[in-house]
Amino acid sequence: MSMGDRRVTGEEPNAGAVPSRVRIHTGPQRTSVPVENGRRSEAMRPVVFDIRDMSVHYGAKQALGWTTFQIHRNLVTAVIGPSGCGKSTFIRSLNRMNDSIPGFKLEGQVLYHGHDVYDAGVNRVEVRRRIGMVFQKPNPFPKSIYDNVAWAPRNLGMKRDLDGRVERALRNAALWDEVKDRLHASALGMSGGQQQRLCIARTIAVEPEVVLMDEPCSALDPIATARIEELMRELKKTFTIVIVTHNMQQAARVSDRTAFFTAELDSKTDQRTGLLVEFDQTARIFSNPRDERTENYITGRFG
Ligand SMILES: Nc1ncnc2c1ncn2[C@@H]1O[C@H](COP(=O)(O)OP(=O)(O)O)[C@@H](O)[C@H]1O
Ligand SMILES: [Mg+2]
Repeated sequence: MSMGDRRVTGEEPNAGAVPSRVRIHTGPQRTSVPVENGRRSEAMRPVVFDIRDMSVHYGAKQALGWTTFQIHRNLVTAVIGPSGCGKSTFIRSLNRMNDSIPGFKLEGQVLYHGHDVYDAGVNRVEVRRRIGMVFQKPNPFPKSIYDNVAWAPRNLGMKRDLDGRVERALRNAALWDEVKDRLHASALGMSGGQQQRLCIARTIAVEPEVVLMDEPCSALDPIATARIEELMRELKKTFTIVIVTHNMQQAARVSDRTAFFTAELDSKTDQRTGLLVEFDQTARIFSNPRDERTENYITGRFG
């Protein structure tokens, strides 16, 4: 594969072992709280991801086509749309989680602070440290609560003040008070909602900039869901959040921006390809969408 070729396939030989050639610089993490209420200009909010004309194939099948939009720092960006429209494909492409899928091929650009995360020489371990991920089903390791949170920092050699790091992550995930007296008990004894907050703690323990969440509440009851939603509003003060959700009310409650995808049938190939229909401020998507397909979806006429 030539250096200029942006395509990436799952069969790439040196996968994961490439030392960093391109360093990714993000500048200092902001701690101020830019609230999405129109008072701050767009220019003041740094662009974290600039996604340009991104297409994804799995083998011969095109899963996602020509997606272009930007993700801004300290906002919650929601990705919504019917099943199979490419939401998971999209979010997993932001931190190269799809690389190991045979036949995966990405075209276009995924610029993270101006650096293409698919450039040859970008260190994937570094990409995943900066851009963490929380999955649909809580998946704690069969280890203690402490060891779950300490796992990634230990692996990355972040050993200084590990106890402090674990405590901070658990506090930021709104879990500390519930677990501080049983840090060495198994994580598998926790409730589903606690396990998902533990997975969030595990992700933020290495201080990423971005937290990707793929339907993080779909396995949880309404009370646990409400706690995670509340937590997201806190987390966005420090992190940039991208959440896939099939729950439109959830997108409306927690997100600042919404990307609506749909799956369009190509009559020639008889295949469905995911497409971005509309990206805008969440309030606008839900009150005054520009595209009829968005309107049909959010009013429940489709999907
Ligand atoms: N590992 C894979 N191999 C082949 N096709 C896949 C794979 N994962 C997803 N797809 C296909 O890509 C399309 C988009 O899937 P996905 O991103 O999971 O959609 P969503 O998350 O919106 O339900 C679907 O047609 C799905 O069948
Ligand atoms: Mg999905």
